[in-house]
Amino acid sequence: MILVVENERLVAADLKMQLERLGYGVSGPVATGEAVLAQVAAHAPDLILMDVMLDGAMDGIAAARALPKHPVIPVVFLTAHSDRPTVQRAGEGAPYGYIIKPFTPAELGIAVEMAFHRVAAEEQLRQAEARSYEAQRLDALAAVTAAGQDEERLRALTRNLMEEQEAERGRLALELHDNVTQPLSAIAFRGEAQARKLRARDAPAKSEQRALLQLIGETAVVAERISRKLRPGVLDLLGLDAALHEISTEFTKRTGVPIKLDCAPLGERLPANIELTLCRSVQEALENVEAHAHAQHVNLRLTKQGKNVELAIGDDGVGFDQDHLPTKSEAARGLGLFGMRERVAAAGGALSVKSAPGQGTTICARILLGG
Ligand SMILES: Nc1ncnc2c1ncn2[C@@H]1O[C@H](COP(=O)(O)OP(=O)(O)OP(=O)(O)O)[C@@H](O)[C@H]1O
Ligand SMILES: [Mg+2]
Repeated sequence: MILVVENERLVAADLKMQLERLGYGVSGPVATGEAVLAQVAAHAPDLILMDVMLDGAMDGIAAARALPKHPVIPVVFLTAHSDRPTVQRAGEGAPYGYIIKPFTPAELGIAVEMAFHRVAAEEQLRQAEARSYEAQRLDALAAVTAAGQDEERLRALTRNLMEEQEAERGRLALELHDNVTQPLSAIAFRGEAQARKLRARDAPAKSEQRALLQLIGETAVVAERISRKLRPGVLDLLGLDAALHEISTEFTKRTGVPIKLDCAPLGERLPANIELTLCRSVQEALENVEAHAHAQHVNLRLTKQGKNVELAIGDDGVGFDQDHLPTKSEAARGLGLFGMRERVAAAGGALSVKSAPGQGTTICARILLGG
């Protein structure tokens, strides 16, 4: 069910008709942010198609921010062509897409389809990661208990399954790059050439083409970002400093939160499993900063003294009480910190977490080389 949020009655009626023609169930229209939240609370739609300009105190962007985070309800924004700053704000606040008025039925159909695809892909990735990790961990635990073996055996099993998981992620990253990002870039390239050929009197067709190309370009960027997250490409090639640099730059670009990166010269490459473990710890910790911390600054420090490598990720955000994490159901409990601890332990190190409400969070991984 798609909820239509639009305060211009004629546009709303037209939208409903076009969506129904495309075979979607439609609810609404509603015209205020407050009405959107009430509708969502009563019966969550699968997607919201929302004008940025609404009646009442909330505009569309504020309404989208106030939506519940789980499960994700994708929002596709509608903006007026002439209103450049709003188009820009909508673009920044709309990970699932936006459409510029006036638009054609084809553009509407593509934007809605792409938003649905994007949500489904994100959900699948999340479920696959959580399921395979949890299932494999339980298998490993059961195997150890049955054999009555000691902790070292569990570590070895954890190491194995992490290696398998990393190999699988590498394959996925490649598949995504070869089969999604590359073809999208090729489509955009050919589209550009075609747009240039459209003569000046075909201005509407040309601007339609441009909007479509922009959509394709943005999707290519998202796909590339997912593929880099699956496997930080520069790590194998250029080493840990370069990978940390890339992860930090991408994080700041996406979230606006600056990272002070302090990487001691390592002199030589660390063992591959340790480089990867540290890289994954940074990704996981930054995911937590983004999701929970509301931080203004992040510090990322890598030091090496003799055979001791230490990586610390600190933020000045809200912090948390480690003894009283919000109680969640078994299925919803986070795996981030747990997975980080397991990874670091499997690489022969230890993870410490320092945090308190209002005092930020610092995660520190210490690994003894050759230990
Ligand atoms: N940097 C941080 N700032 C504030 N709170 C944090 C931070 N890191 C973790 N937390 C708190 O610790 C909890 C556990 O984190 P963890 O990474 O294990 O799980 P999650 O982030 O909730 O879920 P998942 O990582 O599986 O998506 C979080 O839900 C959050 O309450
Ligand atoms: Mg987390």
